[in-house]
Amino acid sequence: MTQSLDDLILQAKDKFEQAADSASLENEKAKFLGKNGVITGFMKGLAQLPPDQKKAEGARINRVKQQIELMLTARREQFARDQLNQRLAAETIDVTLPGRGRAMGGVHPVIQSWQRIEEIFHSIGFDVADGPEIENDWTNFTALNNPENHPARSMQDTFYVDMNDAGGLPFLLRTHTSPMQVRYARMNKPPIKVIAPGRTYRVDSDATHSPMFHQVEGLWIAEDISFADLKGVYTNFLKAFFETDDLSVRFRPSFFPFTEPSAEIDMMFTSGPNQGRWLEISGSGQVHPEVVRNFGLDPEKYIGFAFGSGIERLTMLRYGVNDLRQFYEGDLRFLRQFNR
Ligand code: DAH
Repeated sequence: MTQSLDDLILQAKDKFEQAADSASLENEKAKFLGKNGVITGFMKGLAQLPPDQKKAEGARINRVKQQIELMLTARREQFARDQLNQRLAAETIDVTLPGRGRAMGGVHPVIQSWQRIEEIFHSIGFDVADGPEIENDWTNFTALNNPENHPARSMQDTFYVDMNDAGGLPFLLRTHTSPMQVRYARMNKPPIKVIAPGRTYRVDSDATHSPMFHQVEGLWIAEDISFADLKGVYTNFLKAFFETDDLSVRFRPSFFPFTEPSAEIDMMFTSGPNQGRWLEISGSGQVHPEVVRNFGLDPEKYIGFAFGSGIERLTMLRYGVNDLRQFYEGDLRFLRQFNR
């Protein structure tokens, strides 16, 4: 028995070394140190020994056990090291590869125009206002002198929104920025001098119309603002926006329910690649007395002008873009040209 206990160390050493992976190592461990293992067998055998031998024999078994445990730990650590080294070899990172980088964003060309328009009008004393894109029927149409069932409403065929409004007022995606005239004028005291750029919506889609588009509304109301002021302000705006004096502007009679008289503003470049063609830029006019009354003001005392221009239109002319849909297709080859 003494002899075989000493042999155990060598036996365990061999078995542990032969174990090819940690699963078989743990199997071998069970044979020596497990509940039914050899060492445990020796421990149980102690009971049969005479009392004077028990202590020495017990100590001997323990020493062997400890040695086997040490060898087991060493072999376990070796497996762990091998595994780590394998992973390190397999998962190497090539630090010389080019990085993924982070692309720089840019401002959309229509928004660049929006920003330019704000800067130009702000520099001549116009306030800049912002309002809701979901508008009520009264502010979008009725207050602007578009009576219910008036055919002019269908010129702006649009998207209605079912909001189950408690007061029964129909809501819609605003068809123009003109309702901002009403909102701003009712909230501010004259003189009223404001632009309101923003998104507008109509059931429209072709090369020069998209269901969502941008307009900028202008309104200047005081005791003495005339059509001549409209001509001066708007002509100067166009020259600043297009950065040229080489353009002509004409005011062509037109109809809008909220202005009287009304005019379509046309412009023509007198030099450059687009010269010699009249282009429609904006609606405008002297604000109708009925609308001034809906502002909460006395039309006998207050008078002024309004205009509403398409921002996509201005952007197309500035950059020579001929299809408005390109602005909204998200093609980076197109959009990047505006952010160099
Ligand atoms: N709201 C008009 C439209 O969308 C444009 C317009 C015309 C605005 C004349 C005005 C104006 O302020 O005076 O077609």
